[in-house]
Amino acid sequence: MRPSGPRQATLGCGGHQGKPRRPRRGVRIIEHRRKTPGWGNRGADQVLLTVEGLGKSIGSRSLFMNLTFTVEAGQSLAIVGPSGSGKSTLLSIIAGFTDPSSGELRFDGSRGHIEWAPQASPLLSRRTALDNVMLPTLIRGADPGAARMHASKTLDDLGLGAFAHTPVYRLSGGERQRVGVARAVVSRPRMLLADEPTASLDPYSRTAVIQTLRRCTQEGTAVIIATHDPIVAEQCDTRLDLQLDMP
Ligand SMILES: Nc1ncnc2c1ncn2[C@@H]1O[C@H](COP(=O)(O)OP(=O)(O)OP(=O)(O)O)[C@@H](O)[C@H]1O
Ligand SMILES: [Mg+2]
Repeated sequence: MRPSGPRQATLGCGGHQGKPRRPRRGVRIIEHRRKTPGWGNRGADQVLLTVEGLGKSIGSRSLFMNLTFTVEAGQSLAIVGPSGSGKSTLLSIIAGFTDPSSGELRFDGSRGHIEWAPQASPLLSRRTALDNVMLPTLIRGADPGAARMHASKTLDDLGLGAFAHTPVYRLSGGERQRVGVARAVVSRPRMLLADEPTASLDPYSRTAVIQTLRRCTQEGTAVIIATHDPIVAEQCDTRLDLQLDMP
């Protein structure tokens, strides 16, 4: 059953009414929240991460402030906003690579197993797609045969079966991007941070990525996606808008 509509909360200030204005930096956060049965939500209600009053300034610039939200197992959360609004920075804070300027993040237990598919995934370019995707499960101690099987299946799911044995440097940008997604999802992390996973993809490949991420949520992974893609954002359970302009 379709939910009745997004819950909307506005934190900070600013607005987009009327004709477009030149963006000015500021903070406006709108959180749409709904449960989308299609994404599974297995394990939902188990809060993995609580973010409270989070803010990030770089120099004298405030990227965002007073961000408060939770992330549950099996939940999909889209972070949207214009270029430069701080989406990648927020993912980096969640991953633990960047310190926030204010507020706090509380993980259920430890940070646990988080995978990050960055905007430009750093892959081992001389190794094959399969080698790259096997790596996370091998590192976690999986049997090589099992690692190979999971990696092959994940590449197939993403339409890359024919490229499994191709060195990454011979792949196109979109193919590499999907190898990055495959590498992030293959070990079924507790939380997956995907930075613009569908940028520069054709509709068919984009659908494959969406379905792969959706499968992860059905298996209990919390998926946080920074995206400019309205179709991806629309399909997520929760949407967090980072805004640039302020009156
Ligand atoms: N280490 C840093 N030092 C200085 N400025 C930074 C640093 N990291 C990010 N920024 C600035 O913070 C702002 C937000 O960057 P971020 O990469 O988070 O934006 P984004 O929303 O992901 O943008 P895009 O949609 O283009 O990927 C940018 O203006 C960027 O220049
Ligand atoms: Mg970014």
